[in-house]
Amino acid sequence: MRVPLIAGNWKMNTTLSEAIELVSGILRELDKIDNVDKVLCPPFISLAAVGELIKGSSIKLGAQNLYFVEKGAYTGEISPLMLTDLCEFVIIGHSERRQYFNETGEIVNKKVQAALKAGLKPILCIGERLEENEAGLTEEVVTRQLRSALTGIDRLSGMIIAYEPVWAIGTGKAATGEQANQTIGFIRRNISELYDTEAAQNVRILYGGSVTAENATEFMQQPEIGGALVGGASLKADQFLSIVRQTSEIRRR
Ligand code: 13P
Repeated sequence: MRVPLIAGNWKMNTTLSEAIELVSGILRELDKIDNVDKVLCPPFISLAAVGELIKGSSIKLGAQNLYFVEKGAYTGEISPLMLTDLCEFVIIGHSERRQYFNETGEIVNKKVQAALKAGLKPILCIGERLEENEAGLTEEVVTRQLRSALTGIDRLSGMIIAYEPVWAIGTGKAATGEQANQTIGFIRRNISELYDTEAAQNVRILYGGSVTAENATEFMQQPEIGGALVGGASLKADQFLSIVRQTSEIRRR
């Protein structure tokens, strides 16, 4: 059985003091919830402080991005080596990075390679845009993104995949549980072709896009869905705790 994973992607939200306040508010309750892996992905500048707060708890930490070179003259960038000291996970290829920062499939692939080399676990994001969805291209797009991101990678080594349809991100218009389950099942079959059935069975594939306390159960009870990558709702203590609790309860059934 795969242990579900719920990750909160805070995106470019929270100052350092707000991050500390948010984590302090959920820490005790979140720590108590079992049967679920819980990951917080605050902005870079808060990683160290949040890391201190969650030390000794069951909560894990992730970054939202990285650069693919170990060190050097790359003003403003954060290297994999800088992150290994701080966190276990790193989000790679988020659609916002592809859209606003021109991250191509090739760049995403380099980042995945660099993260794995440094011992970080990538949370690799893939997903189609609205017009691609409407044109019936979902499977084609996720296949292309997946295969390009995994080029040259012979083992998944704890990598997580997140299926995030771009039209569902931050729009309040989530996919249905059934839609997400179907595409995630399709992604899993791709993994089976690229690697083997064991890798496909073991890999956790999350759903992301307008997940809230109201719809979390609908997603988490789907057999293919291995957890959620939560944006907006992860900034609200009650919402995030509720999503994690619901996931734990489903797992207990
Ligand atoms: P929302 O939950 O705000 O739609 O964001 C989803 C997301 O992009 C998580 O990475």
